[in-house]
Amino acid sequence: MLTHRALLRALPKRSIAHRALHTTPQRSSQLADFGKAHIAHGLKRVTDTVMESGSGAWVTMEGGRKVLDFSSGIGVVNFGHCHPKISGAAAEQAMKIVHAQSSIAFSRPYVELVERLIPLMPHPSLDTFFFWNSGAEAVEASIKLARMATKRQNVIVMQGGFHGRTYATMSLTRSKTIYSLGQGPLMPGVFPMPFPYWHQLGLTPEATEEEMVRSCLYQLQLILAQQSAPSDTAAILLESVLGEGGYVPAPPSFLRGLREVCDKHGILLIIDEVQAGWARTGKMFCIEHSGVKPDVMITAKGLANGFPLSAIVTRKELADVQAPGTMGGTYNGNAVSCAAAIAVTKVVQEEKVLENVAARSVELISALKEMQSSPALNGLIADVRGLGLMIGVEFNSPNPSVAGDLPANIVPSAPANAASRIANKCLEKGMLILTTSVYEVIRFIPTLNVTEDELKEGLRIFKEACEEVVREG
Ligand SMILES: Cc1ncc(COP(=O)(O)O)c(C=O)c1O
Repeated sequence: MLTHRALLRALPKRSIAHRALHTTPQRSSQLADFGKAHIAHGLKRVTDTVMESGSGAWVTMEGGRKVLDFSSGIGVVNFGHCHPKISGAAAEQAMKIVHAQSSIAFSRPYVELVERLIPLMPHPSLDTFFFWNSGAEAVEASIKLARMATKRQNVIVMQGGFHGRTYATMSLTRSKTIYSLGQGPLMPGVFPMPFPYWHQLGLTPEATEEEMVRSCLYQLQLILAQQSAPSDTAAILLESVLGEGGYVPAPPSFLRGLREVCDKHGILLIIDEVQAGWARTGKMFCIEHSGVKPDVMITAKGLANGFPLSAIVTRKELADVQAPGTMGGTYNGNAVSCAAAIAVTKVVQEEKVLENVAARSVELISALKEMQSSPALNGLIADVRGLGLMIGVEFNSPNPSVAGDLPANIVPSAPANAASRIANKCLEKGMLILTTSVYEVIRFIPTLNVTEDELKEGLRIFKEACEEVVREG
């Protein structure tokens, strides 16, 4: 596998490929200015600089600045940037056939990927696949399937849930108003219920799981009695970890309660594992923590480690209700992305990724909990939660800019807008880390093969940033 530098040396100086790879700091900042002027304003960025390359847990920004990436491209490059086996498999496939159109013939990587995925599924009944490009498209495909299979229209979703930015998925999304601002009327037939996250129920971090789950399942019964009759309800759709809604794992008892309601009424349980899948939470798929069987599961992001690929998986008799031609799309199951995903299925097993997630998760959570009780941070951290390497840290901080008049369930003792201020400071100090939700939350989603030293370095930067925010007030 050639490195970026070796490739530059190997290429003739005046070739187009050499010019494309060779960048100067001036060229990068010109590009950033050009991007600001000509790229849609609606696309928000963490930083207005150019990301030149990536390797493992690191990205190189313009000017050659190396930054530790604890965002993993929003939970996508689970196995590190440009993993040699995954990117290598894609490069090899790109020289065989790129566009083996799936409505014309079977594509070898598409079928071989299905072969490799079936044994990894959380339940043996999940044996029939359809691939798409993005998470949102796959969510839409799951709703089409549910409506067709049940001959019912309505979908129950979670307050705080995120499923994408297309028309159907922004209708299903309830994590921030910005995602559907000015876009109504949205797709009808969507009914949100509360998710067992203490904020949503007007409680504090000390609330018990049992209390929250009981309250949410009661609200579900009310929705089925008052708003969407079971006989009109096609599906309950939820993320196994509320992602854009605050990094809150769905408690197993909640998932079991939903499963019972679905079984009683013939409603389909659709689990969105777009962000939480692929070893992210310490199991191959997060739903495995509960033992609950989904009727439909959605996966994307880590599936092809950055190559655009998503999938829905269900049992054959459900998939078979869809007439040939009802599903499809020009790029669905692109051969290069499928080849990358086949390599992902090998890497995740051969490189002991789950073992690394388990070890790093213990180190990460214990370091964050220690910070939570540290007198030097003066009660800055309200909550540390999550599974595996999908960890949220919530601050005791008011957020007037995003949450407006959101009533605080916790007494906000920490400085305002702590999450975004800390994330900005981390970037200045050499680490990319993201905030999430309308609350003051930072999410830790490092690459799953992050080393102990890299994790220590990330925590050192994070701690320094927290201390500075507390000092500055
Ligand atoms: C849980 C979940 N579902 C769906 C999506 C939408 O995926 P995409 O952005 O690929 O359309 C996302 C994206 O962040 C997500 O986190």
